Amino acid sequence: MDMIRLDKFLSSQLGCSRTDAKKLLREKRITVNGVVAVKGDLLLDPDTSAVCKDGQRIQYEKFVYIIQNKPAGVVSASSAPGDVTVIDILPASMKRKDLFPAGRLDRDTTGLMLITDDGAFAHEILSPAHHVEKTYLVTLERKVTLSEASRIEAGLVTDEENYKPAVLRPVDTAAEKPRYEIVLTEGRYHQIKRMFAFFGNRVCALHRTKIGGLALPESLAPGESRKLTPGEVQQIKLL
Ligand code: URA
Repeated sequence: MDMIRLDKFLSSQLGCSRTDAKKLLREKRITVNGVVAVKGDLLLDPDTSAVCKDGQRIQYEKFVYIIQNKPAGVVSASSAPGDVTVIDILPASMKRKDLFPAGRLDRDTTGLMLITDDGAFAHEILSPAHHVEKTYLVTLERKVTLSEASRIEAGLVTDEENYKPAVLRPVDTAAEKPRYEIVLTEGRYHQIKRMFAFFGNRVCALHRTKIGGLALPESLAPGESRKLTPGEVQQIKLL
């Protein structure tokens, strides 16, 4: 395992600045393997060293993976002055440095949002080359015609874009605003809204229900977040 500096360990695991980490050290609140540590440049093996703050073990997690039920009105960015972001609404206990949303949802789109500090993982689930499916429930202004559905399923070609084939399944087409499930393997800017706008239709509501094999748990209320288990992280990569 790579050795890391104690101040880096503290700032990454506690989500604080290096300055705050140094303050904790000065205040003698940190021990490493039972010995009070005061120097930020102490090198340690994060997997085997017992680092405690105020006597409480800080479990080392190289990366974290958080699932959030994104509410409407929140922006999927790491920081957006003047706006509330998906990072801002995380509970303090989940905050770490370098967290970012893995993929974008529009401000008015709700549902499954992944937040991580693992760049390679984010690339793997977002890159169209990896074909990780993103499933959405879309509420439309009017029903989709058979010919529109087959163009979407074949890979919609517009003047601006060549979209990859998508799966479209009716959920409730008898409703005044019909609902469909749509499954994409790419995530272009305003993709679903633009695909339906191409046919003169309008997206009234959009909610992401699934990424790969991981569904948004019903127990997670809008605005709530929780850490994923390693098994759930694996599920994302399954179709
Ligand atoms: N497509 C959209 O148009 N918006 C989203 O937020 C996600 C997919």
